[in-house]
Amino acid sequence: MQDRPPENRSPDSRRRDWLAAIDSAADLAALGALDVALLGKTGEVTELVRGVARLPREERPAAGRAANELKVALETAVAARRAVLERSALDAALSSTGFDPSEPPLVDGPQPGVRIPLRRPRGTLHPITIVRDELVDLFTSMGFTWQDGPEIETDWFNFEALNIPADHPARDTQDTFWLDDGNLLRTHTSPVQIRSMLRFPPPLKVIVPGRCFRAETVDASHEHSFYQMEGLVVDEGVSTANLIHTMKTCLRVILERDVTVRLRPGFFPFVEPGFELDVNCPFCAGQGCSVCKHSGWIEILPCGMVHPNVLRAGGIDPERFTGFAFGMGLQRVVMLRYGIDDIRLFMGGDLRFLSQFDGVAR
Ligand code: DAH
Repeated sequence: MQDRPPENRSPDSRRRDWLAAIDSAADLAALGALDVALLGKTGEVTELVRGVARLPREERPAAGRAANELKVALETAVAARRAVLERSALDAALSSTGFDPSEPPLVDGPQPGVRIPLRRPRGTLHPITIVRDELVDLFTSMGFTWQDGPEIETDWFNFEALNIPADHPARDTQDTFWLDDGNLLRTHTSPVQIRSMLRFPPPLKVIVPGRCFRAETVDASHEHSFYQMEGLVVDEGVSTANLIHTMKTCLRVILERDVTVRLRPGFFPFVEPGFELDVNCPFCAGQGCSVCKHSGWIEILPCGMVHPNVLRAGGIDPERFTGFAFGMGLQRVVMLRYGIDDIRLFMGGDLRFLSQFDGVAR
């Protein structure tokens, strides 16, 4: 470039030469020198931009634009070439040292003087996730589909449509967190029964795992945020026998043993009849122990036949269709399965607790 004074060449050919020189700079040092010569404080292009001020007033705008555009084009070309050269300089440096950045670093091993690769713990699935996934596998294998619903619900979906009007005492047992706009944090997964009925015509088989909330004082068996899994089946001729069979199948898989169940009447406004389904205590085989409070039975699954008012709210004709529903507390099932005695452990974030479930899942 130095061989011909710039003014002897057309602007276009100068620009081409400069760009070509930048693109073929052999290493970072050559590129740096070029950068200074063109774009440095007294560089050729810097001078060119400066020279615009000395032109007659009417030529300045066009010349200024052209000079600036040239400067930006050269700066961009320098930056692009620098990235390429830096990358190949790094590759060369790494291959000459034999250093592989993807290898884990070495740390002291259990025996003195022996270095071993550092292993970072990968983390484990949360026990609630493990059991939820097993339940989802089981129910989808029986033809159920997994439905989600919002955690912020309307009063209508959470209560009214489930046959719990505003003055109903059942609301007292499900105190929750209310939002300023009149909506609430759902107290159970049951509102998704209504959402599913409104969305899909029967026959209908859904499960709804999800988080629920209540204004509870936290203790060993109560949490303000907890997980449930709702189930709903609606079809012609669905009976209590179908309900019991499905529940027994589910408990057999989750508790990994044959189970005996018993039904007691239970009141929930959205089912009629409603039941509390108990399973014979897996810890003492029904003999009586501290877990089952010496009764031999553990209350695990509230369920029942869907109330006609609920079917109607879901747009389904109760004269033609019947259904059953259940709602299990997921934490409760997990506690029973693994013999965990304090619900607070689930949310405590204590890795000593959480990492015990690694590899427990089948
Ligand atoms: N939603 C109820 C609760 O959280 C549990 C429940 C009971 C769900 C009976 C049901 C059912 O589907 O049939 O207390």
